[in-house]
Amino acid sequence: MSYDLTIIGTGPGGYVCAIRAAQLGLKVAVVEKRGTHGGTCLNVGCIPSKALLYASELFEEAGHKFGEMGIGVPAPKLDLPAMLAFKDRGVDGNVKGVEFLLKKNKVDVYMGAGKILGAGKVEVTLNADGKVEVLDTKNIVIATGSDVAPLPGVAIDEQRIVSSTGALKLPKVPGKLVVVGAGVIGLELGSVWRRLGAQVTVVEFLDRILPGMDSDVAKSFQRILDKQGFAFKLGTKVTGVDTSGKTLKVSVEPAAGGAAEVLEADVVLVAIGRIPYTAGLGLEEAGVAKDARGRVVTDHHFATNVPGIYAIGDVIVGPMLAHKAEDEGVALAELLAGKAGHVNYDVIPGVVYTFPEVASVGKTEDDLKAAGIAYKVGKFPFTANGRTKVNNTTDGFVKIIADAATDKVLGAHIIGPEAGEMIHECAVLMEFGGSSEDLARTCHAHPTRSEAVKEAAMAVEKRAIHM
Ligand code: FAD
Ligand code: NAI
Repeated sequence: MSYDLTIIGTGPGGYVCAIRAAQLGLKVAVVEKRGTHGGTCLNVGCIPSKALLYASELFEEAGHKFGEMGIGVPAPKLDLPAMLAFKDRGVDGNVKGVEFLLKKNKVDVYMGAGKILGAGKVEVTLNADGKVEVLDTKNIVIATGSDVAPLPGVAIDEQRIVSSTGALKLPKVPGKLVVVGAGVIGLELGSVWRRLGAQVTVVEFLDRILPGMDSDVAKSFQRILDKQGFAFKLGTKVTGVDTSGKTLKVSVEPAAGGAAEVLEADVVLVAIGRIPYTAGLGLEEAGVAKDARGRVVTDHHFATNVPGIYAIGDVIVGPMLAHKAEDEGVALAELLAGKAGHVNYDVIPGVVYTFPEVASVGKTEDDLKAAGIAYKVGKFPFTANGRTKVNNTTDGFVKIIADAATDKVLGAHIIGPEAGEMIHECAVLMEFGGSSEDLARTCHAHPTRSEAVKEAAMAVEKRAIHM
C-alpha cells in the first residue's frame, strides 16, 4: 500500500495527527503495537488516573464531608475491584472512541510494531500473525511517546515496586506506600491511595515538590498536602530497596550526604519522570538524530534531519503532556497539507488533578526572575471567594503575573477546586495578548470560583474588592 502519511504510534499525538491529516484529504496509515489505540494517555496514563482520582475523591468526601453538610450516610466501604472495574470501563470507552474516529476518517490501521527502513518505507510486524508488511509512504511521523524512567538499583516488578502502570491496578490498598518523586504522578497517584487508606511518604531528591511549577504555588500546595496526611522527605534520595522480607525496606539518605535511614513499605511507586521511547524503531539505521536525552531532534516544523521523517509528542523536546502532543499532531498535519500549522509553546497549560487541583499556564515568578523581566503580581485567596466559602473548599488561591511595563499577562497559577477548568480563560486571554486590566474588566458570573481569577487580576493594581 502507498500512503501520503504513515504515523507510528496512536497516542494523543499520533491519532490526532492522523485524523487531522485525513480531514485535509491525505491518505493516512497508522501503526500501533499496543493492541489498543490512545497510547499511554488513554491506556495507562491520563484517563485511568483521572477515573481513580474521581472515585477516590468521592470516597473520601463520603467519609469526611457528607456529615458536615447534613448528609447522613454509613461509613463508606471500599470495593476496590469494583473501583478498578469502573476505571477499566472508562478506559475501554475512550479507547473504542479512538478506534471509531480512525475508522470514520478512513485511516488505515496496522496493529503491529513499526520500524523505519529509511525515508518513505515503514516495515510493520503484525501483532496478529507476525507477518511483515512494508508500507510505501511519502511522509513518516514518529509518535512513539515515552516510557517510565528507571531508578538505578531499584527494579520495577509492577507488583511491590511499581511504576504508574502498576499503581493504577494494585489489587489491595497498601498499608504503607513510599512514592519516589514528588512530581505529577507521585502526587496524583499518592493522593488516590492515601484517600483509600494508605499511609503515603513521598521521597523527593530536590528540596521542593513539583519542580517547574511556581515555587510559591508548590510551597502552599505542600502545606495543603501535609494537612491531608502526606509525609514528605525532601532533599532525600533512595539508595536501594531490600525486597527479601514481607515488608520492603527502602534505604534513603539526604541528597547532600548524611545519615542513612530505612523506611518500611508495602509498595514503592517509582515516579521520577519519563524518557522518550524509540526502541526497535530503526532510527540509527535510518540516520535519524537524537539528542543526549534520547529525544528525536526536530526543527520548528517537526522535521527530523532525514527528509520526509517527522516527530511529535513525548518523543521530542517539551512538556510531556497529552494536549501538547495533540496540538503538535494538528500543526504537523496542517503543515504536511500545505497549510500553516503552529503551536504556541508559551501557552500550554499544566494541571495536577489532585484535590485541590493545581493549574498553571505561562511564566512562573521563578522564570521571570531568572530572565530579569520586571513583573507585577495579583493574588486572591479562595477564603475570600463566596462560592468556595459556602462550599467550604477554601484552600488555595489565584495568582496572575503581568508585565510591569505593559500589563500583558505572562502567567497564571491556581490552586483550588477545578483549577484545571478555570485556567483556560487565562490561556485564551494570553493567546490574544491580553492584559490583567482586560481580565479585571471582564464581567464574571456570581457566585463562581472564576470570580477569584477576576479579583486576582484586579489585585495586580491593588483594587480587588473582596480582600
Ligand atoms: P503515547 O501516548 O506514549 O503513545 C505512543 C504510542 O506509540 C503507544 O501506544 C505505543 O504503544 C506506540 N508505539 C511505540 N513504539 C511503537 C512502534 N515501534 N510501533 C508501533 N507503535 C509503537 N498528560 C496530560 O496532559 N494530562 C494528564 O492528566 C496526564 N496524566 C498522566 C498520567 C500518567 C500515569 C502518565 C504515565 C502520563 C500522563 N500524562 C498526562 C502524559 C501523557 O500520557 C503523555 O504526554 C501522552 O500520552 C503523550 O502522547 P504521545 O502520543 O506522544 O505518546
Ligand atoms: P515529573 O518530572 O513530574 O516528576 C519527577 C520527580 O521526581 C521530580 O520532582 C524529580 O525531582 C524527582 N526525582 C527525579 N529523580 C529522583 C530520584 N532519584 N529520587 C527522588 N526523586 C527524584 O515526572 P513524573 O511524575 O514521573 O511524571 C512523568 C511525566 O508524565 C511528566 O512529565 C508529566 O508531565 C506527565 N504527567 C502529567 C500529568 C498531568 O498532566 N496531570 C499526570 C501524570 C504525569
